[in-house]
Amino acid sequence: MNDADKSMPGGDRVCPAGRAGWLSTSLRRMLGQNPETILRGLIGPGETVVDIGCGPGFFTLPLARMVGEKGCVVAVDLQEAMLEKMRLRAAAAGLLPRIRPQLCTPMSLGFGGPADFALAFYMVHEVPDVVRFMDEIHGLLKERGRLLLVEPKFHVRAAKFWKTVEITWKAGFTLLSEPRITLSRAVLFERV
Ligand SMILES: C[S@@+](CC[C@H](N)C(=O)[O-])C[C@H]1O[C@@H](n2cnc3c(N)ncnc32)[C@H](O)[C@@H]1O
Repeated sequence: MNDADKSMPGGDRVCPAGRAGWLSTSLRRMLGQNPETILRGLIGPGETVVDIGCGPGFFTLPLARMVGEKGCVVAVDLQEAMLEKMRLRAAAAGLLPRIRPQLCTPMSLGFGGPADFALAFYMVHEVPDVVRFMDEIHGLLKERGRLLLVEPKFHVRAAKFWKTVEITWKAGFTLLSEPRITLSRAVLFERV
């Protein structure tokens, strides 16, 4: 771990803002990760959704379009530098009024809900205490609210992913489906 990593909340397991350029490039769409396709049917106008570990906002901006003028996207991240990248992109697209940036800590998201939908895309493997994390998501979602959990195949082996699914189920979620997403392992849950 270098000095920059040590000073980062969450430590060296967290993807640093300086290395996150690819997260918001069109290459990601070209590889098959199209946010509109992935999120289709999961978000409605006027809803409150939370993008946990939003990074530079690859999903935050499409979510803001989907919730419309009366909805809200709570964009949560550990790193102010990631939130700043997201803010700049959202402002350029005229979407910032629908987005609430939320700086969090590894032990608290700083947002208690209620939310209709939560997205945790490529970030749970960076979370130190997944049991506590899933309890917190359960607490902020409305009854029957949805959680889309997506992890990268290149970082997270099947056994580890299914352990995370088991923890999520024990936190009070039912498994609805296993969406097919390029390069990824994914499960859609509903809060009981
Ligand atoms: C690999 S990036 C993914 C970003 C975004 N979800 C995407 O798919 O483009 C992971 C992000 O999660 C954030 N993160 C890591 N641990 C977190 C935690 N416990 N709470 C909130 N954000 C966290 C990191 O700061 C980083 O921005």
